[in-house]
Amino acid sequence: MRQKIVAGNWKMNKTEEEAQILTSEIMAMTGDEAGTSTTVILCVPFPFLGSLRNQVGNSPIKIGAQNCSEHQWGAYTGEVSAWMLKSMKIPYVILGHSERRQYFGEDGKLLAKKIDTSLAADLISIFCCGEPLSVREAGTHEQLVKQQVEEALFHLSAEQIKKVVVAYEPVWAIGTGKTATAQQAQDMHAVIRKHLASKYGGAVAEEISILYGGSVNAKNAQELFTCPDVDGGLVGGASLKSREFVDIVKAMK
Ligand code: PGA
Repeated sequence: MRQKIVAGNWKMNKTEEEAQILTSEIMAMTGDEAGTSTTVILCVPFPFLGSLRNQVGNSPIKIGAQNCSEHQWGAYTGEVSAWMLKSMKIPYVILGHSERRQYFGEDGKLLAKKIDTSLAADLISIFCCGEPLSVREAGTHEQLVKQQVEEALFHLSAEQIKKVVVAYEPVWAIGTGKTATAQQAQDMHAVIRKHLASKYGGAVAEEISILYGGSVNAKNAQELFTCPDVDGGLVGGASLKSREFVDIVKAMK
């Protein structure tokens, strides 16, 4: 059975002290919820990875990064290697978030390399895809998302793709307060799963978790999470507030 996941994406927010307070609040409030059937991941800024990993210790909450380099080591000032994350026992990394695509020019070719380095370092990537508003309005969103998945993932073997989590995040829903309807999310998730099945077979596609992201909050989470192909959420703004984030985790039953 595929894993249910709620991942917070803190983006470039919080001081170190605020990050520690938010983490302890989430740990206290999730109690037994995290780790039972839902994997809870906090994807935090690079400087906080070590201290927050120590803080969560053996609790069910996991810490993830928000990006990594396509290179293993070397003269790449300012970059962070997947092997550094591995050496710090950070198990997850978000790759291909639309903000990385938009502001840092990341494209399918680069993301395919980042996926490869992350897999080689034994990390689980949370690979993001999703269409901008203009593409949704033109009605070519399914085509674009299928292409994003193909470009970054279709060179992988069946064994490798099972170590990737896909996050569908329509760009028009990110940080806008405008969530996709449960039907829109379900439709696209089914398209993605079918596309994965066309390449890897139905059994493999059934094992891949597909998360929805884009203005998920405590009010809309439950409806989204009951969709058969929605296996959880990638949560931005609402993950910065402990009560709201934990209510989203609790909506994932
Ligand atoms: P949002 O962000 O929940 O603030 O819309 C989601 C994301 O960017 O991952």
